[in-house]
Amino acid sequence: MVLWCHDNLFTIITIVPVLWVIRRLFYRIQPRWFVYFLHLFNSNGLGPFKEESKDHFASLSSIVSHDPELRKKKAIRILEIGVGTGVNSCHYPDGSHLVAVDRNPHLKSYWENCRKRLPNIHTGELLVASAENMEQIADNSIDVVVVTLMLCSVPDIDTILREILRVLASGGKYYFIEHIAEFDLQKHGLRRKLQDVGHWLGFWSFLFDGCHMNRDILTNIERAGFSSVDAQKFYNKTWFIFSLTSPSLKGIATK
Ligand SMILES: C[S@@+](CC[C@H](N)C(=O)[O-])C[C@H]1O[C@@H](n2cnc3c(N)ncnc32)[C@H](O)[C@@H]1O
Repeated sequence: MVLWCHDNLFTIITIVPVLWVIRRLFYRIQPRWFVYFLHLFNSNGLGPFKEESKDHFASLSSIVSHDPELRKKKAIRILEIGVGTGVNSCHYPDGSHLVAVDRNPHLKSYWENCRKRLPNIHTGELLVASAENMEQIADNSIDVVVVTLMLCSVPDIDTILREILRVLASGGKYYFIEHIAEFDLQKHGLRRKLQDVGHWLGFWSFLFDGCHMNRDILTNIERAGFSSVDAQKFYNKTWFIFSLTSPSLKGIATK
């Protein structure tokens, strides 16, 4: 080994800094690439869950705020975490007060454009923060938390669910839609294997912001401590390689 290092000293001295620069460049480019991908995907109407979202969020209009001031105005306070380019905002009831959180600072300009198209709801600037620690948001202050397509890519689902429970007012609702691991192994066992292999190879995570195709997620939500969880598994209509993420989960958990 020592001899090999000695013989290849020049190569090692050259390659190590090059690899270091490539790694640094990748980490700089990755969040920008993902924002561009999200924008392209959603603005061309290719984003998933269009029909499901419409139905899923329809019940938001029947929610009554815990905050007496908002209640008088028949409005609610919504926190959307991992807001991305803002695809869900068009489903929020008129007069809603929306707090939008995302960890990716490159989304700011997309969020500003999105806000301009939402004159019917009250929005603020994008709060750039990690879902694992949203200290800017007070305990028991939120009527509804919305998270879609985010728990697949976070390092620690349980910490985020604890944060959601912390900020929700008593009786508050957590609306979720996520893609999950294949759940019908009899019919789609091959898809499950491909999800595992794709994850193991790391290419999917590499391209899509740390996304895991093979997470269960419902188990985490069920054991997080909500008073009730109403969830359904379904298949989302997708195409080409994205059909690997067709198995999905939607639901509402109540604090
Ligand atoms: C796949 S995108 C989905 C965006 C949007 N919710 C949608 O359905 O189109 C996931 C988003 O969650 C954000 N995100 C991922 N992990 C996060 C974390 N730990 N805290 C806050 N945002 C996070 C990403 O930056 C990205 O904007």
